[in-house]
Amino acid sequence: MNTIIPHTAKKSFGLRNGQLLFEDFNIERKVKNRKAKEKKRLGYQFFAQKFNKQNNPLPIAYQNKIIADDSLKILKQLPDNCIDLIFTSPPYNFGLAYEQHNDTATWDAYFNMLYEIFDECIRVLKYGGRIIINIQPLFSDYIPAHHLISNYFFNKGLIWKGEILWEKNNYNCKYTAWGSWKSPSSPYLKYTWEFLEIFCKGDLKKQGKSSNIDINDEEFKSWVNAKWSIAPERDMKKYGHPAMFPQKLVERVLKLFSFKDDIVLDPFNGVGTTTLVSHLLHRKYLGIDISKKYCRAAEKRLHSQ
Ligand SMILES: C[S@@+](CC[C@H](N)C(=O)[O-])C[C@H]1O[C@@H](n2cnc3c(N)ncnc32)[C@H](O)[C@@H]1O
Repeated sequence: MNTIIPHTAKKSFGLRNGQLLFEDFNIERKVKNRKAKEKKRLGYQFFAQKFNKQNNPLPIAYQNKIIADDSLKILKQLPDNCIDLIFTSPPYNFGLAYEQHNDTATWDAYFNMLYEIFDECIRVLKYGGRIIINIQPLFSDYIPAHHLISNYFFNKGLIWKGEILWEKNNYNCKYTAWGSWKSPSSPYLKYTWEFLEIFCKGDLKKQGKSSNIDINDEEFKSWVNAKWSIAPERDMKKYGHPAMFPQKLVERVLKLFSFKDDIVLDPFNGVGTTTLVSHLLHRKYLGIDISKKYCRAAEKRLHSQ
């Protein structure tokens, strides 16, 4: 059904080169007494855990290091509350050919492995720190990994800050897999994007000096729109890794969610895009990956700067 909007209801609009960019109408849904209602619902405070507020320094031996080992083992050696930001992309269990990691486990074993490592991530995260997980579900297995992982963090009492949709414009994916061609019996849905799930420990606000902010006005205005169009990394062959972050994605995450001098951890660091960009943007870093070969490549990228 078409809704006819009287022209008097138009509040504002934007034009560029004679093209209509956006229209804003007065007849948007309005909620009366919004603040009082928010107070009544208790918001995230109803679910958020009380975490210890005492933050600790990361021992020097782990600062600006890339460590080739199992993350679970290394994270257990770190003190509580010592990391400002965790940005990572775990293996997705898609069956990719990683150097060390077996990427085809039962889903049960896969999530158990992840949750053990994520338990440690929550412990080492500072009060007010953020953990951001890049994940793509395996649609052909009908496993909503992004929801399951979000549920895990939510049930651990972290505050859900939001979700970023990383639009990769990856239109060459699975064009022949239509499912039930031209029939509603079981059409196959296709996705050109991935997800970034953002959680905070204890507080939505992060402490930091204003002199350590490095995001500019234009970047801030553009990046708070939670759909980011960024092409996938093109040079994966060169680095010998099947699932790398593009540098641009890491730059946005670090500038929008952390301050200069913050400590950034990637427990699934691969060939070190997170550690490289942290270094370039004057953050301290700790990167862990099970593969010695990937860690050597990560070191090489750092030292060729
Ligand atoms: C999706 S890749 C990360 C790629 C990375 N973002 C980059 O830009 O290079 C996931 C990585 O997790 C690593 N990995 C798997 N299990 C691990 C574990 N238990 N501890 C540490 N690293 C692990 C794999 O070797 C793989 O490099």
